[in-house]
This record gives sequence, C-alpha cells and structure tokens, in this order.
Amino acid sequence: MQHKTPQRRILLRNGHFITATGPDRGPLHTWDALGWLAHGEAIVAYDGAQWRTQWLGQADDAKRPGYDDALDLEGRLVTPGWIDCHTHAVFAGDRSHEFSQRLAGKTYAEIAAAGGGIVHTVAATRAASPAELTALAAVRLTELAAWGVRVVEIKTGYGLDLATELKTLAVIGALQQQFAGRLTLVATAMPTHAIPLEWRRDPDGYVALVCDEILPALARSEVPVHFCDIFVEQGYFSVAQADRVWQAAKALGLRLKAHVDELSATGGLPWAVACGAVSVEHLLCTDAAGVARLAAAETVAVCLPLTSVFLREPLAPLRALVDAGARVALATDCNPGSSMTTNLPLAMQMAVLMGRLTPPEALRAVTRNAALALGEVAGLTGRIAVGERFDATLLDVDHPDALFYEFAAPPRANSRLIDALDGRKMP
Ligand code: NIG
Ligand code: FE
Repeated sequence: MQHKTPQRRILLRNGHFITATGPDRGPLHTWDALGWLAHGEAIVAYDGAQWRTQWLGQADDAKRPGYDDALDLEGRLVTPGWIDCHTHAVFAGDRSHEFSQRLAGKTYAEIAAAGGGIVHTVAATRAASPAELTALAAVRLTELAAWGVRVVEIKTGYGLDLATELKTLAVIGALQQQFAGRLTLVATAMPTHAIPLEWRRDPDGYVALVCDEILPALARSEVPVHFCDIFVEQGYFSVAQADRVWQAAKALGLRLKAHVDELSATGGLPWAVACGAVSVEHLLCTDAAGVARLAAAETVAVCLPLTSVFLREPLAPLRALVDAGARVALATDCNPGSSMTTNLPLAMQMAVLMGRLTPPEALRAVTRNAALALGEVAGLTGRIAVGERFDATLLDVDHPDALFYEFAAPPRANSRLIDALDGRKMP
C-alpha cells in the first residue's frame, strides 16, 4: 500500500512511452507523430481517487523533479491504457449453431429473420441468474485484461425487458467491484438492440416501453449509465423510432451512440451525426458521403474489423475515414453473434493488414480516439499527459512495432506496473 499513499511521487524509469498526445484526426506516419518517448521517465502520484501524471521527460533530463519511490520498467513499452470502447460482453448461452449455419452459406440477416440472432441470446440471458451472468462475463473480462485492455464499454441489450435490462446493469456493477483496479467498466444502455419477440407485432409499442419505462429505470440505477445506443437497421429500429428513443434518452441526460451501416445503410449515420452522437459504430457499408460527414463532425467512427472477419463481410472504409480526417476508434464488438472474441490486438492488426491503417493510427484508435468515443468519461483521456489521469498498459516489448509484426501473438500485456501502483505486489 506504500505507493498508493496520496501525493507520494512514484518515478517510472527505464521505459519507452507512447503518449498518444498527437492529433486525433488525419494520417499518422510515424510513432513520433502519435507521441513517442523512447528512454523516457514519468512521475505519477495518487491524488486520493486516481493516479495522475505529474511529469514526463527524457531519462537524463536535468529538470526532473524529485520523487519518493522508483519503479524500474526494465526497458518495456508503456502506452495509455487500452480501451475496448464497444462490447456486448454480458450475455448467456452460445450461438455456435448459427456460426455453422453462416459457414454453410446463410447470412446474419437470414438467421435473424428465421427467429435466431440477438433474440436467441435474449432468451438465454433472461433465464440466467445474476451470478451465472457475472461468472460468464468475468471470463471474458479476464481475457480482455490479459490482452492489455484497461477500460471496457459494455452495452446492455440482451434483456429487452425491464427486469433483464436492470439485471444486466447490476451485473456490470458487480463486475466493476470484482475488477476494481484492473478494469474500468463503462455501461451503455441498449434496450434498443432488437425488437423482442413478444413485441414483434407492435414495434412502436416496444419503443414506447423503452422511452417510458426501461430507459428511465436504467438512467436512475445505482450503476452509472452514460450512453444510450440504438441499432438503426432494417428489421431493427428505423430512424423515426431511433429519434423517439433519443429524445427520451437526451431528457435523461444520456449521450447518443448508434450502430449504423452494419448490414445496410438506412439513414442512421446522417441522423446520428446531426444529433451530435458521441460515436457511430460498425460502418461496414458507409459510402463517401458518410465518410465526408464524419470528417466534418466530432462524432467518432468506431470500426470493428473482427466483426467483418467473423461475418465474412468487407471492412469499414478505415483508410478513407482516416485520410478524410474522421476520428477513428477500434474495438472488439465482443458478442456471441457477430464477433465471439476478446482479442483487441488482433482487431488492431486486422485494421493494419486488411484495412491499411498505419500502426500508429491503430494504436491511437484504442487509446486517445477510443477515449473520445467514451466522451472521456471518468477522466479517461486515452493519453499520457501531465495533469491528466494516468491509466496505462505495460507491454513486454521494447518497441510498438512489435505489437503488429508479431502477428496473432499471445498476450504481451504485463500487469506488473498496475499491480505495483495498486500495492498488490511490491516492485
Ligand atoms: O454489434 N449489431 C448489433 N449487435 C451486435 C450483434 C449482436 C448479436 O448478434 O448478438 C453487433 O454486431
Ligand atoms: Fe455491436
């Protein structure tokens, strides 16, 4: 507990730092452009609630201030804590039978139209106890943490009724306690993930239930909810329905996220951007007009390359988005139907190898830009910068190129830094 004494200054020495303090838009061709401090040092201190960066500089900087204790990073790489800004990680059951059907030629939309898809997972999630759901999600979160992830956004949306949406949120709260110090969890309300079976004949009735009962209850819950997400898609929610939900969500103080252009373009992107959405997500069939719209907006384009691979669909126009000047983030989309994985580094590698991002652009997409996709909630800026919250991923490599060159490698994350700062283990 010695380090976590308020205002005790800890020197992190003998490391290499990615700061991600470069621009959040536009092409990045070098690590320097993202923010790169080889042979660097940082001084961090606990302010009673959070760790903060007090100083950052070169190892031999004569102006380095004093410190109380030192931690030798032994030549490892430190980056801002990785943020998986789009997951559906709390669910029960599995959909491997649908995966087999898709491999045999059925599409995601055909399976959903035949009564499978999201509602299949909804039935299993409604039937599961909170303890079962917590245990299932804890396995996924443990994997995410092992990959180097420090912050996970989790959407509700496998409940689609008041009781199960609240149960899901309570599970996220329990997981936050269980993973305290290792992960920060950010909850997003998504009762608008699909129309539940019992409302199929009256979708507008379900939209009214969401606006009048489910969203207000989620927003009032003890577990903080910052965002409302809506699947704007054929057979899910129309723009008109999404707008009704957004008006209710806005009145509750929530910010907007939207799944758009995933299976088809139904107008969700221009609508969400016009509403000032903090992010639009998926973008598999986003065209040049959509790219231009995002380039001119604050809204972050959250791209999910592993979903494209899993669904055998083309990637979002990653290169075009970055070149045009959109803010691009990357995430796993961890869910049982379209992306059954927790492998965030693989998403970064696919974005580079198949989507033609540069490695610095891919690393920016899980740090600074992923923090922007979460509205910098809880002081998480996705950067390492003086005066800001310090949240970091320590990696057993000495250069960020290795995170891409060592393709589909086992986890490189090292918990030593966080364990030491949290006092679990002394250096
Ligand atoms: O992000 N698009 C909607 N939601 C998920 C799929 C969820 C599921 O199939 O269970 C997605 O791809
Ligand atoms: Fe999703």
